[in-house]
Amino acid sequence: MGPLEIRAGIFWVGVNDRTTDLFEGLWPLPYGVSYNAYLVVGEKVALIDSVKSCYAEELLGNIAQVLDPARIDYLVVNHMEPDHSGALPLLGRVAADAEILAAPSALPMLTRFYGLTEQVRAVRDGETLDLGGKTLSFHHIPFVHWPETMATYERTERVLFSGDAFGGFRTLDGALFADEVDFGLYEGEALRYFSNIVGMQSQAVLRAIDKLQTLPLEVIAPAHGLIWRKDPRRIVELYRRWAQNEGEPGVALIFGSMYGETRRMAEAVAQGVREAGLPVSALDASRVHVSFLIQEAWRYQGLILGGPTYDTGIFPPVEQLLRLLERKRLRNRVVGLFGSYGWHGGAKKKLEEKVRELGWELVESLEFAGAPTPEDLRRGRALGRAVAERVAQGVRHA
Ligand SMILES: Cc1cc2nc3c(=O)[nH]c(=O)nc-3n(C[C@H](O)[C@H](O)[C@H](O)COP(=O)(O)O)c2cc1C
Ligand SMILES: [Fe+2]
Ligand SMILES: [Fe+2]
Repeated sequence: MGPLEIRAGIFWVGVNDRTTDLFEGLWPLPYGVSYNAYLVVGEKVALIDSVKSCYAEELLGNIAQVLDPARIDYLVVNHMEPDHSGALPLLGRVAADAEILAAPSALPMLTRFYGLTEQVRAVRDGETLDLGGKTLSFHHIPFVHWPETMATYERTERVLFSGDAFGGFRTLDGALFADEVDFGLYEGEALRYFSNIVGMQSQAVLRAIDKLQTLPLEVIAPAHGLIWRKDPRRIVELYRRWAQNEGEPGVALIFGSMYGETRRMAEAVAQGVREAGLPVSALDASRVHVSFLIQEAWRYQGLILGGPTYDTGIFPPVEQLLRLLERKRLRNRVVGLFGSYGWHGGAKKKLEEKVRELGWELVESLEFAGAPTPEDLRRGRALGRAVAERVAQGVRHA
């Protein structure tokens, strides 16, 4: 996709990445991702962020369609993660006179990642830069998503270049703006991005929202995904809710099963949730990538986990999910647990311990030997219903 002017003198010059299979070597990208870089053209020219190194030439080609890249006066580094800073070495060679502007804590990173020490300047929180006809200001938002992260604001057009904040997975398909697309296609990928990438930094996200809220905003231009010009509050509110761990009323029912005993119980549990009138998303942890499991666990307030006892403990794919949810610091979940065992069992106790450690509310847990009996299935249904009713109740009281 070529460059597009998003406001007078402000151009999107980013790229779509449709070839990276795993973002950060971890998270699948079935719908790709965009790295959004922006050119702000006043009398002087600033480039806000860049792209992953393998797309540096494409970025340069986009810039060249707007102006000679050698004319760039400032390279603004909102975030040092290489998906946004990877083109800096090439840009530094092409725009040889440009000054690199970044938060103070980014300076040692610029040296260590890229050997960049010359023409580098730290910008203070709140510092402004007059480009002649355009004015930038820099706002430190540490830990959204790394310690050096900042957002850049352009005052005349009221555009916030928010970095990873308010971004999402999925490429920009001919359109840049949220109001031009079916946002239903993008919302899940925004939540998956949030929960997988910045979820752990939820407190920093909330601090950043409070801080950036004071700027008069007309456009939010994140470093990934859609740009918001019609109703920028919408993505801010979504991010706020996700960061506050305010799950939607519904249940993520995530289970693993070797020979189908726990899976049969999962079907009954799902029915129980539905009987209580809430949506349920049932996912097999052995088959659905953990990236999507984290997304669904983050989406709903109810979380029901199922898995057989395996080597006296929790079934490995379910254990992996729990480990990642702990790392990502998911809080405030209403939980149910179930699973089959062959002889002594053990998964139930270990799952319960984990849930207690995580501070989640355990509504009910059950285990059964071998295949679920009709009575076991009735108990499973009741468990689904009980968790869903607790979720519905919590939401009513909120
Ligand atoms: C590799 C393996 C390890 C197991 N370890 C245990 C165990 O430590 N304790 C236990 O009670 N059952 C154990 N089992 C038995 C399963 O928990 C039991 O077969 C259960 O019904 C499987 O449920 P599923 O069909 O949902 O996977 C193990 C089974 C397998 C295949
Ligand atoms: Fe990042
Ligand atoms: Fe990023």
